[in-house]
Amino acid sequence: MLALEYDPELARQAWYEMGFKKGLEEARAEMVKRLLTMNLSTKEIARVIGRTEGYVLKIAGRNKIMTVDEMRRELQRRLKRSRFAHSIGVANTAVKLAKRFGVDETKAYVAGLLHDCAREFENEELPAQAELRGIKIGEVERATPLLLHAYIGAQMIKEIYGVDDTEISQAIYRHTVGARDMTALDKIIYFADMIEPNRNYPGVEKLRALAETAELDEIMITALGESIIFVVQKNSLVHPDTVAALNFLLLQKRAGA
Ligand SMILES: [Fe+2]
Ligand SMILES: [Fe+2]
Repeated sequence: MLALEYDPELARQAWYEMGFKKGLEEARAEMVKRLLTMNLSTKEIARVIGRTEGYVLKIAGRNKIMTVDEMRRELQRRLKRSRFAHSIGVANTAVKLAKRFGVDETKAYVAGLLHDCAREFENEELPAQAELRGIKIGEVERATPLLLHAYIGAQMIKEIYGVDDTEISQAIYRHTVGARDMTALDKIIYFADMIEPNRNYPGVEKLRALAETAELDEIMITALGESIIFVVQKNSLVHPDTVAALNFLLLQKRAGA
């Protein structure tokens, strides 16, 4: 029997070796078999597998091109039902906004579909997943690890779903806290995430109405402002990128007025 302890680093190495020799499904099955001999609980096994396989795909360079249909199936397999429904809602809403604002509809769909792909990890796992990928964890992210899912997702689209597109990756990276000087696609994904049909919170109807009538920057000024109010009311931290995003748009508006 292989002397493999429950150690993320050893698990990563084992994946690395198997990832080179075999396909992912086969390597995953073998990993489960190895872990089962170590008296680990199902939950612990799932954690080892989930923690390391994206990394292995990346280094093994096994990124295959998936059709959008295959991406949808893979996402459905990985996310819980409500999160998957939310993702489809964001994808469809993003396409509507893309049509209205002249943005590439396929990119909008794929970015919307995959924006929350890193939510397959539990919150406690996100810092480890970020470190695995060389993502710097700032003090706001340290205090609010959920924010990391956006940065991890921006890399996972390539690792798991074979999407190698900087515009889509950036839109996913920015979907939670925003950024200074966002592209139209960034803005569409940010806003679609707030108003997709499964969202239900006070004020959502007002935001949905804006989607029909207002210009994109006006929409974003309202959306970013609402987000800041929301986190302040929850006593959560305001991310500096959200403030930068809002100030940038307000300054631009004043310069144009
Ligand atoms: Fe998200
Ligand atoms: Fe989301």
